Formats: sequence, structure tokens, C-alpha cells
Amino acid sequence: MEQLLEQIETYKKEIRGFSAADTKAVEEFRIKYLGTKGVVKSIMGEMKNVPVDKKKEFGQVLNDFKTFAEEKFESLKSSSSGQVDTVNGPDLSLPGDPVALGSRHPITLMRNRIVSIFQRLGFAVAEGPEIEDDWHNFTALNLHEHHPARDMQDTFYVQHPSAGGVDWLLRTHTSNVQIREMEKGKLPIRGIYPGRVYRNETVSARSHCFFHQVEGLYIDENVSFADLKQTLYFFVREMYGKDVKVRFRPSYFPFTEPSAEMDVTCFICGGTGCNICKKTGWVEILGCGMVHPNVLLNCKIDPSKYTGYAFGMGIERPALLKYGINDIRLFSENDVRFLNQFTGAI
Ligand code: PHE
Repeated sequence: MEQLLEQIETYKKEIRGFSAADTKAVEEFRIKYLGTKGVVKSIMGEMKNVPVDKKKEFGQVLNDFKTFAEEKFESLKSSSSGQVDTVNGPDLSLPGDPVALGSRHPITLMRNRIVSIFQRLGFAVAEGPEIEDDWHNFTALNLHEHHPARDMQDTFYVQHPSAGGVDWLLRTHTSNVQIREMEKGKLPIRGIYPGRVYRNETVSARSHCFFHQVEGLYIDENVSFADLKQTLYFFVREMYGKDVKVRFRPSYFPFTEPSAEMDVTCFICGGTGCNICKKTGWVEILGCGMVHPNVLLNCKIDPSKYTGYAFGMGIERPALLKYGINDIRLFSENDVRFLNQFTGAI
């Protein structure tokens, strides 16, 4: 009995002097003194050896000891969880916790710039699936069955368990969204469609097996090539400034007729010739044309009543040029030393 009382006193001293630097130490305290195999429980277990006439007195001592340990535990808990010390108040001299600021990805910045220019002209943003079927990526866009662009060299085909005869693939361009929007059957359409596309190409500093495009589509009565040119002139002025010159070169896309590619005077050298423009003074920025009547028919739109234009441009190249980045792979490596450089950019 005497021995037990002494033991309790020793534990009390220990408990009084206990300080916890963190929540882990608080938990250690709980396990040691209040846990199922802890000090309080084990002393409680001694009760059975106490003579009957002393049981009441000893019971009181034990209860006090238990309360003492529990109160200490509560106070350790509240001070370690960062609660305000009610005696001394908060320590206002402590440094604040830094809040790390994130940044937008340069591809996102460039996409937003492009998209917002067209939004101001009334184009509505939409997106489509990256895993697409043959119809939306190729067939409906007037790419016949043996067109070279369907070659396995360029397209990633996807084996889908529920494919059931459908050729699933990773879309090779954002033109699939044109088809999906036209199939909705609501006219007129004036849309801008940003997204990621995939092509089976060797990854290098200049090209990647996935990249980003922005697609534009306008379908209405009496839409002409002149409308297309005016819209793109506006875009170029907003994007690259008033002094930039533009030229259209005849081109070929199965889904547009006539088709063109648009160049702007090199925004690095201003047209005098440099490495970026391969000394030509011009940089190609997009493909475009009048939507092919077959494409309209494939989407159940009457080509004798409606006409339209479409254009598509890459996001990576203008982003590389604008930010002076020399390796396209940096965009997808998630290196924070690269990404942090865009903190605060909009
Ligand atoms: N889809 C074409 C490409 O990926 C770009 C384009 C879109 C051309 C719309 C004309 C009209 O190269």
C-alpha cells in the first residue's frame, strides 16, 4: 500500500514535467498513461490487493490520479493543436505560414488567349472526346477509307473491349468536334473548340505524340470565304499586333474546299528572316477552308441552303515562340522549375 502511494507520487511528478512538442508526443503520453496497457490501468489493477478497510481511501487516491492524468492529456492536446494559449494569448511575433501560389500552364495561357479573341466575336466554346470513333475523326470529315492520314503511322488505334466492330482511336485533330456539333442539328453554329490531339510521332524537341489545337467553325446561310478571311484578320491583329502581315496559300484538306493555309510575318524577326521562319520571313499558323458539302451532308445539313468555314491551329508553336521555349517536351514534364516561371502570368 505504502509502496503504491509512493509509485503514484513518482508518476505524478513525471506527468507534471511532461511536455509535448508535437501531436506525436501527445499520443505517446496517452498510450503510456491512459492506454489499455497504460500506467493508470495497471495501478487500478492493484486494487484487488488492497485490504478491504483501505479500499475506499485508496479508491479516492486512484480516481484523483486518473483525473490528474486526463487533465494533463487535455491540456497537452489543446496546446499542440495550435490553439491559443489562454494565459499568454497568441504569439504575434511568430512568422506566418507561407501560402504557395500556383501558376497557369503556358499551354493553358495560350489557349485562353486564342479562345477569348473568338469569344469576343460570338464564338461559343465546346469540347469533344479525345477517344473517338472512326466516323467522327475521319469518315464524316470526308476522309475516305484508304486516305493516307488513316495509316497506322499517324493514328493511335485503341483496342476497346466493347468496341464491337467500331474502330476506336485517339483523335488526330480537333475537327471531330465540328462533326459532333453539326450532328446536334442546331443552326447556325459559331463555335471554338480547344483540345488535345494525338499522333504517332517520334518525340523530340520539335514534335510530340500529343499536342493541342483550337478548331473554329461557322455554319449559316451565305457564309463566304470573305467572312473567313475577315475573322482571321481580326484574330491575327488581336493576337500578334496591328503591323503583322498575313498571306493565304492554297492547300488541301479533305474536309474543306477550297482550302488554305495561313501564314503571318515572323513575329520573331518581323519578316526579315531568321532561324524560326527558316529565313522565309513567314510562319504558318493555321489551316482553313470552306466546309466541304460532303461533310455537311454527312451531318444532315443541306449544302444548298447552308455554307460554312472551318479553321484549325496548333497551340504549342505560338506558345513556344511567345515564351521563348526551345523544347516542346518541357510542356508535359511537370517540372516545377519550368512551371514556376509562369506564376502571375495571365
Ligand atoms: N484539322 C486540320 C489539321 O489538323 C486543321 C484544319 C481544321 C484545317 C479545319 C481546315 C479546317 O491539320
